[in-house]
Amino acid sequence: MANKKIGIMTTGGDCSGLNTAIQRLVEGCVRRKWSVIGIKDGTDGLYENPPMTVDLSRETFQFASSHLAGSILSNGNAASTNFVKSAAAGKMGAFNKRLQKGIKDLNLDAMVIIGGNGSLSLSHLYREIYSGLQLVCIPKTIDMDVPLTDKTIGFDTAVQQLVSYCDQLLLTARSHHRWFVVQTMGRECGQLALHSGVAVAADAILIPEIKFDIDNLIKYIKQSRRDYGIIMVSEGISIRGHSGKPADMVSRKLTAAGIANRTAFPEHIQRAGDTVASDRILASAFADTALKAIESGETNVMTVVQNGEYKTISLDEFFKSGKQEKDPHIIGAMTSNAYVEPDNILLQIATDMGIYIGEKKK
Ligand code: F6P
Repeated sequence: MANKKIGIMTTGGDCSGLNTAIQRLVEGCVRRKWSVIGIKDGTDGLYENPPMTVDLSRETFQFASSHLAGSILSNGNAASTNFVKSAAAGKMGAFNKRLQKGIKDLNLDAMVIIGGNGSLSLSHLYREIYSGLQLVCIPKTIDMDVPLTDKTIGFDTAVQQLVSYCDQLLLTARSHHRWFVVQTMGRECGQLALHSGVAVAADAILIPEIKFDIDNLIKYIKQSRRDYGIIMVSEGISIRGHSGKPADMVSRKLTAAGIANRTAFPEHIQRAGDTVASDRILASAFADTALKAIESGETNVMTVVQNGEYKTISLDEFFKSGKQEKDPHIIGAMTSNAYVEPDNILLQIATDMGIYIGEKKK
């Protein structure tokens, strides 16, 4: 096995499971006698001259335990020159060239990028940055909006965080005969709200993919056998004629209908929490798959899990198979997104559980 030099970056929003993935990659490199470095702050650190790097070895994880959330490599620094600012200034060409130079200076054989759909899309669209080395991506995001993979690192831990949070809320909700409107993250994708809502047996789950009728929701709550509970609201939903936070909008409507309620915003706690077992297993499997892909000479690929099978697919396939939409932050860039599909089994399960999920089309 020829000696190789591998770089690892974590890009986009953090989530739990990044450190597990990094630790498994490092261990796999050490076992193969490959050298491995981390790039600090993702592409923000790669842009620096010289690029900001971190030495990685088995010792790295002796104290910084790999089950802790966040990334020991950090995910970016808003103060840096980055994709967002460069695109806004019309300087993407110069930015990309600088990243290319960073890659060259580091003399890497392969780069592993652990990123969400934004990062994966950028890695595909601006793949010339990584020409000359093997590029292998690993999907992570609490939003689980990456096409063609059944799971992304960080999702299960985020669901667990929301479950623990709602379990606590329900105790006070019951004591005060009131409802909690809990706003989850997830951007325009309802997976996080849907999964956590089913897990806590919420009374209602509102997600961007399904139209709902606020009057029907109110009717449902009034007819409920309880006078307290959880209404899980994804941050991506909207009510015509209302602006502001979706949970506030729903809460105001409930209050106007005489339903005692409070809002709750778990916010970035969803990206934290000790990595749950299934995320550790996923991170281990993705790291293993990524290293094997490097060994067999693959490039411009990402790891996925499909029906229990771990494998790689091309970034091109990933990009083409999702819904291609304007990147919300990077002018001129596109992102490939996945959503809750109408045949998602959890929609049926939620309905069967008596959870209000909106006006589902039969
Ligand atoms: O994409 C991950 C995510 O946590 C989304 O669910 C959320 O909308 C967004 O990032 C929050 O981003 P920030 O940390 O920049 O506020």
